[in-house]
Amino acid sequence: GEVKSYDWNVEYMYWKPDCVESLVMGINGKFPGPTITAKAGDTILVKLTNKLHTEGVVIHWHGIRQLETPWADGTAAISQCAINPGDTFLYNFTVDKAGTYFYHGHYGMQRSAGLYGSLNVDVADGAKEPFAYDDEITILLSDWWHQSVHKQEVGLSSKPFRWIGEPQSILINGKGQFGCSLGGEFINGSTKCSQDIDEQCQPEVFSIQPKKKYRVRIASTTSLASLNFSIGNHTMTLVEADGNYVQQVEVDSLNIYSGDTYSVLIETNQYPSTNYWISAYQIARKPPHPLRPGLTILNYKPKAPNPVLDAPSSSPLPTPPLWNDFTGGKSFASKILALQSDQLTIPKPPTSFDRRIVLLNTQNNNSGYIRWSINNVSLVLPTTPLLGSLKYGLLNGLDSEKPAEDFPANYDVMKPPVNPNSNSGGSVYKFDYGITIDVIIQNANVLEPHTSEVHPWHLHGHDFWVLGYGEGRFSSESSNLNLKNPPLRNNVVLFPHGWTAIRFVTDNPGVWPFHCHIEPHLHMGMGVVFAEAVNRIKTVPSGVLECGLTAKTILADSITS
Ligand code: C2O
Ligand code: CU
Repeated sequence: GEVKSYDWNVEYMYWKPDCVESLVMGINGKFPGPTITAKAGDTILVKLTNKLHTEGVVIHWHGIRQLETPWADGTAAISQCAINPGDTFLYNFTVDKAGTYFYHGHYGMQRSAGLYGSLNVDVADGAKEPFAYDDEITILLSDWWHQSVHKQEVGLSSKPFRWIGEPQSILINGKGQFGCSLGGEFINGSTKCSQDIDEQCQPEVFSIQPKKKYRVRIASTTSLASLNFSIGNHTMTLVEADGNYVQQVEVDSLNIYSGDTYSVLIETNQYPSTNYWISAYQIARKPPHPLRPGLTILNYKPKAPNPVLDAPSSSPLPTPPLWNDFTGGKSFASKILALQSDQLTIPKPPTSFDRRIVLLNTQNNNSGYIRWSINNVSLVLPTTPLLGSLKYGLLNGLDSEKPAEDFPANYDVMKPPVNPNSNSGGSVYKFDYGITIDVIIQNANVLEPHTSEVHPWHLHGHDFWVLGYGEGRFSSESSNLNLKNPPLRNNVVLFPHGWTAIRFVTDNPGVWPFHCHIEPHLHMGMGVVFAEAVNRIKTVPSGVLECGLTAKTILADSITS
């Protein structure tokens, strides 16, 4: 492969993502950050300089497995020390597999502050995708609050608890419109935006040629929102999920949760003198009224130059689904299956597991502080990066408690917790090399009766097979798992009051977080860490672990040697 080098400066800038001026975290003066386009097998070098005045920064490459480079995963307090203001750090890793990915901040709530961008990997020269297309477009979905992330973080960890609320705007490629809607005339209680929209919040219009086949890459880096995505009048053929090929299936819309990526194919075979809407409606949580979907335009070339504000009226806005249509959500999720192909080898799961871990997801009230916990432990990260503490055996950097692999038989997942209290700490599960792990993510009722939330779970360092979803409490006797054609993914939804089962093989030494991708939930403790064959982690470059206890160890090492 090729080596692709980038020089990035991360800084706060004044910006109007949804026409309201705020501070965003930009890269090289851009929001969202620049798109990386590479080919499978390429090496990516990102020289990242922290131009924030008073806070550290890291960037995580979401969906990239970091084979042999666990230190480049970009997770503060896990894979590396946060990069200090003024410092530069070099990320150096291989993008081994074609697919649709993205990158984002992974320190505090820097993703919600706008630190993200797209990362597209094409097949290597000479290799072929199992589908054909003429051209492609890239869509990055996110959500946006007017309140600063610092205020959000403090509110979430305060007593009394201050919830951040629903986002002010849904952004498509970093652009939204607050206080009006491009589709105002179609939305009850909404007003149409006027002609003079600020340049920074003008929708990115996708201009396409008629009678062609397009690949649309869609990634969601939302902080909170689950979205239903569609392209008016155009059916979409699903071909890829999280960097893995899936069975081709036609859909009118797709449900995309935070951390998911998809590719769909569309044919530009509609009447070319009309514009068509691209829409992203909030689902899974009660949306605000009036509805504020993310909107932009698919525009057939050649068309009038200002398609946004006059032309779209001629085609209707896609219909919003019911926000609480979980039946529809489950039926969409179950349509995603691995591609069966004679041309490509799509890895199949081992037929049995060596170790099964059940992770109960609860919402807790710890003396007035609202937290999320996994098997009764709410994640608090240590000051020394776990990769360092584990590799060098620094016991002071670790929680000595061995985390639970199941939860009590009498726990009722349909009811609020009887004892709402939980513990805080670092739940580190240690795995030997080369074994098959099953994880059952088990949802439960939150503190309020008759309520359970959606949580998209994301694993670093791996793809996993999604073996199935079910209602209520998982039971090994009666819960059906798909071992025939389960899709490989790195992100998977957990439905309210239900369970999700995944399987993976521990073939990638590293220290990998497994967490809810909803950023306020992770901030409130919703995650665990998988320490995988740590004894096989090779040496890490200097600069990765020069903080906390590892700084002293490395220093002592260099003095004695
Ligand atoms: Cu995209 Cu740990 O996250
Ligand atoms: Cu969550």
